[in-house]
Amino acid sequence: MILKTEKTIYEEFSSHENAIDQFRSDVLEGLTNTPKKLHSKYFYDTIGDRLFQQIMAMPEYYLTNCEMDIFQNKTSELAQIILESGTAFDLIELGAGDGTKSAFLLKDLLEKQADFNYMPIDISANILSVLSSKLKADLPELTITCLEGEYFKMLEKAANLSSRRKVVLFLGGNIGNMEKGEALAFCSDLSSYLSPGDIVLMGFDLKKNPQMILDAYNDKTGITAAFNLNLLTRINRELSADFCIEKFEHYQTYDPLSGSCRSYLISLADQVITIEERSVDFEKDELVYMELSQKYSLPEIEALAENSGFVTINHIMDSKSWFTDVAWGVV
Ligand SMILES: C[S@@+](CC[C@H](N)C(=O)[O-])C[C@H]1O[C@@H](n2cnc3c(N)ncnc32)[C@H](O)[C@@H]1O
Repeated sequence: MILKTEKTIYEEFSSHENAIDQFRSDVLEGLTNTPKKLHSKYFYDTIGDRLFQQIMAMPEYYLTNCEMDIFQNKTSELAQIILESGTAFDLIELGAGDGTKSAFLLKDLLEKQADFNYMPIDISANILSVLSSKLKADLPELTITCLEGEYFKMLEKAANLSSRRKVVLFLGGNIGNMEKGEALAFCSDLSSYLSPGDIVLMGFDLKKNPQMILDAYNDKTGITAAFNLNLLTRINRELSADFCIEKFEHYQTYDPLSGSCRSYLISLADQVITIEERSVDFEKDELVYMELSQKYSLPEIEALAENSGFVTINHIMDSKSWFTDVAWGVV
């Protein structure tokens, strides 16, 4: 689908059929593995997007406020890094979500009359349309090309659409959703898609008081639990499954030694779930592993940059030093 307005181009490249086939195959593979696993990228349907916006507004979920602090109060530092070379660029955002934080940078760049095109990438068509309507209203002069699909597939599309230098944003600590080995492979792949002169701005949540980290993912109001359980509702709706949501419970852990914060769903009974034609057995107390939110130290982030083909330009911290957005250049 291509929908053009005066200054906004919305392009959707993925086919719905391919996406549902991939969803089915990932769900069945994940739930027949030991331990069972569901991929957190599937959290984000329309309800999941809304629940994630509520998570970002929770007092316990400090990550948003910290990164907002950087994007609101250190915008000039970010812009200076991006505008250093003085050439036109594409500002590509991986997993853009509703763009709450990046909007501050976009506004600042427009005020500085930077020559750029904003290209948000997200697998959620819903959140891209939320983002694009919001930006159209707030920053009508912005040129925006929305790319719906997986990070690298859409990065390739972005490179096919334009040969300008690239500034890639990967915010919100999304890199923390990958195991450390996967994060290294991801950053190495990312650097291979880029060229010298390109820049990456990546958000990392830092190791800190373990209770504070656990509380951020284990709120008492149950929003994070609802966010995790919503994936079962999505499987019921899109894959004709019969999960009884009340028979599962959210469980969160944080290991301060490894920095791994992990979420699970626990089956509260022996039960058999039907997903289309397939049956999947769950034992009472069996876990479904849902999501990792890995926390980093600054030396671990430095090592990740060095080992994946980047050089650190700067790291910008929030005022509490709980979160950092690092600027990496391509070697
Ligand atoms: C945790 S939210 C963060 C949103 C935003 N970056 C922020 O910091 O507020 C993650 C976003 O990445 C998107 N996403 C997750 N996995 C993805 C993938 N493999 N490819 C493209 N987008 C993805 C989700 O749909 C969601 O909007």
